[in-house]
Amino acid sequence: MKTTQTIAIIGASGSMGAAISKSLAKGNYRLLLCANDRSKVEAVAGDIKSSLPAAAVEVVDCSKEASWEADIIVVAVPFAAEQEVAAKIKEVANQKIVISIANPLNDTYDGLVTAPDTSAAEELQKLLPNAKVVKAFNTTFAADFATTVIDGKQADAFIAGNDEEALQTVSELVSTAGFNPIVAGNLAVSGTLERMQLLLIQLNGKYNYNWLAGWKILHN
Ligand SMILES: NC(=O)c1ccc[n+]([C@@H]2O[C@H](COP(=O)([O-])OP(=O)(O)OC[C@H]3O[C@@H](n4cnc5c(N)ncnc54)[C@H](OP(=O)(O)O)[C@@H]3O)[C@@H](O)[C@H]2O)c1
Repeated sequence: MKTTQTIAIIGASGSMGAAISKSLAKGNYRLLLCANDRSKVEAVAGDIKSSLPAAAVEVVDCSKEASWEADIIVVAVPFAAEQEVAAKIKEVANQKIVISIANPLNDTYDGLVTAPDTSAAEELQKLLPNAKVVKAFNTTFAADFATTVIDGKQADAFIAGNDEEALQTVSELVSTAGFNPIVAGNLAVSGTLERMQLLLIQLNGKYNYNWLAGWKILHN
């Protein structure tokens, strides 16, 4: 039988962190949840425990303590906080999968703060050179996690990274969360994925999707 993987979710009380935690609690994972304010994380863990009493969910201190025991680290904090988090987890993230979910939006949500030739994921990889950074969950809205089938179609969730085994592991995790995983390419594709979500945010505003929208590739 496959051993249970331990996943640290840094920023577990946020919109995305809580959504990811709740959806992964359904799988065969041990979850270590943390954020700055521990009481908000306790509330998320309490919610999970009330609907899934057998879920392996623990509230731990951020960020190093959470990452120490983890096989996989989900960085679910705003892009602006990633540098601080990376500095704290650097020595315990070696050889681990680190999932970058960030969209580095500017304050007016009409552009990215990253340079055109890079991405939040590639910047995180530079900060954590010995980790296996994988881009995932950035093209899905937090609300999508509770409704991964929209208008009768399962939303796709794009993944990018340089390590084949890590891509496979993250694909399984994305499936557990209820999305259809699509490996888009290596980590350099992350900039495209981050701009895709910028576009979806703009379309959400224009057409009032109410933050429940996603991407779907139609193919034969
Ligand atoms: N919202 C979406 O639909 C969506 C979709 C795709 C991707 N994303 C990306 O997901 C990330 C999180 O977005 P969000 O909307 O979930 O933000 P959010 O609701 O503001 O949550 C941010 C979380 O990060 C924690 N946090 C902030 N600074 C931290 C630090 N230094 N150390 C540890 N935890 C820290 C916060 O905890 P405290 O409150 O305790 O500080 C909170 O739990 C962003 O990079 C965003 O681009 C969001």
